[in-house]
Amino acid sequence: MNWAVTTYDSAFGYVSAHGAPLVDLLDPQPGEKIIDLGCGTGTFTAEIAERGAEVLGIDAAPEMIAQATALYPGLSFAVGDAHTFTTAMPYDAVASNAALHWMTRDPDSVIAQVHAALRPGGRFVGELGGAGNCAELIVAMQTAWRVFGLGEPDLPWYFPSPAEYATRLEDGGFTVRLLEHADRPTRMVEGPDGAADWVRVYARSALADVPPELVDPLLERVNELAAPALRRESGWVADYVRLRFAAVRKPDGTAPMPEGPPLNGGAP
Ligand SMILES: C[S@@+](CC[C@H](N)C(=O)[O-])C[C@H]1O[C@@H](n2cnc3c(N)ncnc32)[C@H](O)[C@@H]1O
Repeated sequence: MNWAVTTYDSAFGYVSAHGAPLVDLLDPQPGEKIIDLGCGTGTFTAEIAERGAEVLGIDAAPEMIAQATALYPGLSFAVGDAHTFTTAMPYDAVASNAALHWMTRDPDSVIAQVHAALRPGGRFVGELGGAGNCAELIVAMQTAWRVFGLGEPDLPWYFPSPAEYATRLEDGGFTVRLLEHADRPTRMVEGPDGAADWVRVYARSALADVPPELVDPLLERVNELAAPALRRESGWVADYVRLRFAAVRKPDGTAPMPEGPPLNGGAP
């Protein structure tokens, strides 16, 4: 994904603003070692650091890490893919705000890497888009793409249901302590062009195959289609639905066994 870093931070700061209460769920303690997975430009990483924890921000996008390092030179950041990252030492917690739904290749491998990065008893706390997230925005996109004779838009997200994500966490060696699935209508504070701006920032991959001369009229149509549901007198509101969870890595010995024949030949 190619992120428009400047637009992302200035026009869509609400992604981070809405992460604020997540830090309370994480409840970082002074001296704890914590990873912020999918840290973006580091706003949530800095919030964790303010509580006195030693935090490492990890993100797959080098341009995000460059921006985070420039903004918070005193904090540690590294480029890494959540599906494959490894750590040299066990961490007390892994936190993730508004990022896990972008990690679509294999959600189970993300959970497995988080499990491996944590000490037994370590916390995994996150917030991501849940089932139904942005449904009106997505339908407006799909309809507009169809109207313009384009194929289905390439939607780059994974929005799991609470049951599905809880099962993945449990199968991945975690005990789920809290799981919320809630509507979070969110004002698009500085995206004056509403749904069109949202698509430009968050669904860039869907625009990649659209002929350049069609982009503006296509996005205008997205706005027309989304407006009845999402435009208020006071401005545009995104139909966010969030999944928020807190899980704990089970003690050693309770993690799932690797697949394959039992090593003792099947004896009980
Ligand atoms: C919407 S941003 C959220 C950033 C930040 N957590 C915040 O609250 O502002 C999602 C971030 O996830 C990152 N990301 C997407 N896929 C990733 C992956 N596979 N591994 C690590 N980071 C990833 C993106 O580069 C992006 O910075």
